[in-house]
Amino acid sequence: MLDSASLLKLLALLGLAAAVAILGRRMLLPRRYPGIPYNTASAGRISGDLPDLMPVYRATNEVTRAIADITTRKLGTPIAQLLFPSVRRPLIVVDDPREVEDIVVRRNKQFDRAPTFVGMFKPMFPTATISQFTTPALRAQKRLWADVMSTEFLRRVAAPNIHRSASELVELWRLKASTVHRDRPFDVHEDFKDATLDVIWTTVVGDNPGATRYSIQRLQSQLAGKEAADLTPPDGHCIKEQVAYINDAIARADSSVIPPLALKLQTYTARYRKFRRTVNGEMRRAMQKAAGRFHSLEVGRLEDEAIDRCAMDLVLRRQILQAKKAGVTPSDPTRDQTMLDEMFVLLVAGHDSTANTLCWFLRIMELYPAVQDELRAVLRAAFPGPAPPSAAEIVQADVPYLDAACEETFRLSCTATCSLRQALVDTHVLGCPVPKGAELLLIYCVDRAPPPVDEALRSDTSRASAEKLGDGLQGAPGRDLGTFQPRRWLVRDEQTGKEVFNAYAVPSLTFGGGYRGCFGRKLAVMELRIMVVLLILSFEFLPLPEDLRGMSAHEKVFREPDFPA
Ligand code: HEM
Repeated sequence: MLDSASLLKLLALLGLAAAVAILGRRMLLPRRYPGIPYNTASAGRISGDLPDLMPVYRATNEVTRAIADITTRKLGTPIAQLLFPSVRRPLIVVDDPREVEDIVVRRNKQFDRAPTFVGMFKPMFPTATISQFTTPALRAQKRLWADVMSTEFLRRVAAPNIHRSASELVELWRLKASTVHRDRPFDVHEDFKDATLDVIWTTVVGDNPGATRYSIQRLQSQLAGKEAADLTPPDGHCIKEQVAYINDAIARADSSVIPPLALKLQTYTARYRKFRRTVNGEMRRAMQKAAGRFHSLEVGRLEDEAIDRCAMDLVLRRQILQAKKAGVTPSDPTRDQTMLDEMFVLLVAGHDSTANTLCWFLRIMELYPAVQDELRAVLRAAFPGPAPPSAAEIVQADVPYLDAACEETFRLSCTATCSLRQALVDTHVLGCPVPKGAELLLIYCVDRAPPPVDEALRSDTSRASAEKLGDGLQGAPGRDLGTFQPRRWLVRDEQTGKEVFNAYAVPSLTFGGGYRGCFGRKLAVMELRIMVVLLILSFEFLPLPEDLRGMSAHEKVFREPDFPA
């Protein structure tokens, strides 16, 4: 038996243990931001929202959609927080296209790149713009590269490269369709990857890696009964393997528990070092050639932009020109890590993204034969032929239905599903308090009706913009967002009575927006436009067998269609 003093001591000890247990559990429970909706059941368990998220993700293979489904969509609110085990702060999900657009386009002083986003790229490309917060140094770096996306540069340098690639793709598919794949669907993803690699490498670094040309030659030699080993791959073929590796490595890390750590660890592997060595080697060779050419030119000649054959030329030429004008010896560009990193990122960001969008375009054309017919009729009227239109003709033509079909492809394919921003100050989003330092997941897909929003909760800039440009989501353009309807982007001009393209019909977020929006947007738009014209004028894309049909997708770095045939 215990005496009363011992009993009291025991009770006190038990009470203390219980208090420690309760306190400990509280500390382990997910952290929450006050005033932002969340799942109450998740707040009461250490694992937060993760047990709800995993099955939805496994069922859909789309992580961004799964996050929205278990937060904003489940709660019926345009903003909600995703709760994690307490080591990580919640992620604020914003699932309202108008407000997302407002944040990225008009609220740059309040929101910047998020540390998690920067952490995704910094280990591999530490000095590229994509891996930087917005600082004066970043602004200077962006200015240096800005002109490679000018309309003039793209028309002169990129458009012919895209046209050549698209024409080679047409040649390859004609060969495939008339021989080994007669009357049977074939996977187009690899072909699009080859074509977009040729475009981006030629536009950024110069010499054509010849990926599509090599596929044509391989098929021709196969048809001629020759051994594949008889054919020597082009010099740039090694690039394809390296770019494929880095895309996969980023995608794998992206779906790991701590992506930045997974990426950092990847940089210590022999495979990563091989990638860096090979691509650095190729880029340095190209740089040396270009620098040699520019060093031998006088200042007056160096001022001529027409001598640039690729983005690297433009930047190198200006650096050498600046040094010559200042009377100093130009630094060795092959030692310029920032330049190498920037070129790496342009290659990686501009390759898979565009290849996936093109796969989506074909997928959509197969699913919407009436739209495909209308698009072809419009294009035949605009480019009567008989020869296929040139690059210049395609980029200069005023064809509103073509603009609309391309914009609708970007919207419905939703190749980039989201981006991350960090609050730089204490602020509000849709009436909810967002503390400085909080990270926001901004949903970029505009393919289903967003949850309803009380207009009074919107920011001043969001309301002002809707007053000026209208809120298309509430009108006809916002109907049936899950379907492909180019006409949602067309309006009749009251003065001329002609149909014109309205870029503001509904928010366009595939490329994000604002100062930290996609750097390569204009190139990607041009690439889709030229490819669409040449492919639609050359082929009829027939409906696929039932088992290959549909809009199902899986999300890696970008959202890819299942069965891209
Ligand atoms: C269909 C094709 C493409 C899609 C869907 C796409 C999408 C995106 C998105 C969503 C972002 C993040 C924007 C944000 O946070 O608001 C981004 C950033 C970026 N993209 Fe693209 N992109 C595409 C093509 C390209 C191309 C062709 C290039 C290069 C030539 C490129 C280079 C970049 C770069 C450098 C950034 C980082 C910009 C910065 O940090 O300031 N992208 N892209």
